[in-house]
Amino acid sequence: MQDYSIAVIPGDGIGAEVVPGGLAVLRRAGEVTGNFALHATEYPWSCEWYLAHGRMMPDDGLDQLADSDAIYLGAVGFPGVPDHVSLRGLLLPIRVGFDQYVNLRPIELLDGIEGPLRGLGAGDINLLCIRENTEGEYAGLGGRFHQGRPDEAAVQTSVFTRKGTERIARFAFEQARRRRHKVASATKSNALQYTAVFWDEVVAQVARDYPDVELTKYHVDALAARFVTAPGSLDVVVGSNLFGDILTDLGGALQGSLGLPAGANLNPERRYPSMFEPVHGSAPDIAGRGVANPMAAVWAGALMLDHLGETEAAGLVMGALRRVAKDGPRTPDLGGKASTSQVVQALTQALGT
Ligand code: NAI
Ligand code: MG
Repeated sequence: MQDYSIAVIPGDGIGAEVVPGGLAVLRRAGEVTGNFALHATEYPWSCEWYLAHGRMMPDDGLDQLADSDAIYLGAVGFPGVPDHVSLRGLLLPIRVGFDQYVNLRPIELLDGIEGPLRGLGAGDINLLCIRENTEGEYAGLGGRFHQGRPDEAAVQTSVFTRKGTERIARFAFEQARRRRHKVASATKSNALQYTAVFWDEVVAQVARDYPDVELTKYHVDALAARFVTAPGSLDVVVGSNLFGDILTDLGGALQGSLGLPAGANLNPERRYPSMFEPVHGSAPDIAGRGVANPMAAVWAGALMLDHLGETEAAGLVMGALRRVAKDGPRTPDLGGKASTSQVVQALTQALGT
């Protein structure tokens, strides 16, 4: 019996509504398998906390999280606090400070869910997006000058390092080995002759170590079109911070509701804890009504169990998600009438005894 210490940050809005349900499902999976127990330490950091304390988390916030086995997060951001404050004050410091350089997002159309693409059903969309999470276009280097004048200008510089590109490519190839042995690399080397050509070179060098994996590079615009016209041709997709950001949201949209997609921010070397979260935000429009779909949070929890090495429990949780996606009950975002807690209860029951 393994004990895991989980740092839990429910955050704002529906984040705080879906996280308790997610934890309940994960804990039940630990009981059913008899393999582990989760010890949660909850941190109240959120926009509400910001309004009381003037910052999103304490100065030693990262130190407080550092010893946990994983971080489980709901959503952060709420009207009244600008989004760049909440993102730059909490989420980004965790991702960068803990060197969570892999942003992993499974994109799968579950049986029973109607996606936006005509004629496609379960099994037609099953890809894994791997986004670089610490550098590239979001390195934050640049400046503005002559502000407010007619000759005003702004410069924002991308940073692509060999280390950063190589490690994200290697991670993608490793994932492809566990799947259908295909990697699609997002590039734009026709227009970006420095950074994207460099990206292509490094990815191709890494590919030499994986002769059993087929590498195809696509210009990111064509790849975006392919997500819609031929998603079944894609297996693992790897991209830079900006390209990955855009492609993963497109992929999430293909899943049929924002109540479903989940993501992991991984430090694969495990020097620091990794963070698991639903893709959606705090949904102020439905917060407090008890109707948020908990499935994305539960899916994020399955990714967390996988990362902890609890593959049996992770498989059970994914099985329960598939069952409930197919048979219901469903929250309103999926066309149903069920509440968050009714879906959590159904998921817990679907785990078996
Ligand atoms: P959002 O994801 O919160 O909501 C977009 C739409 O999807 C809304 O209509 C909402 O009701 C619906 N929705 C989202 N999750 C749902 C769920 N689980 N069940 C049912 N319906 C769901 O995005 P929005 O409105 O742009 O952002 C709201 C706040 O959340 C902002 O402050 C934003 O900065 C923050 N945010 C935080 C994220 C994070 O913590 N990683 C990610 C995205 C947004
Ligand atoms: Mg995004």
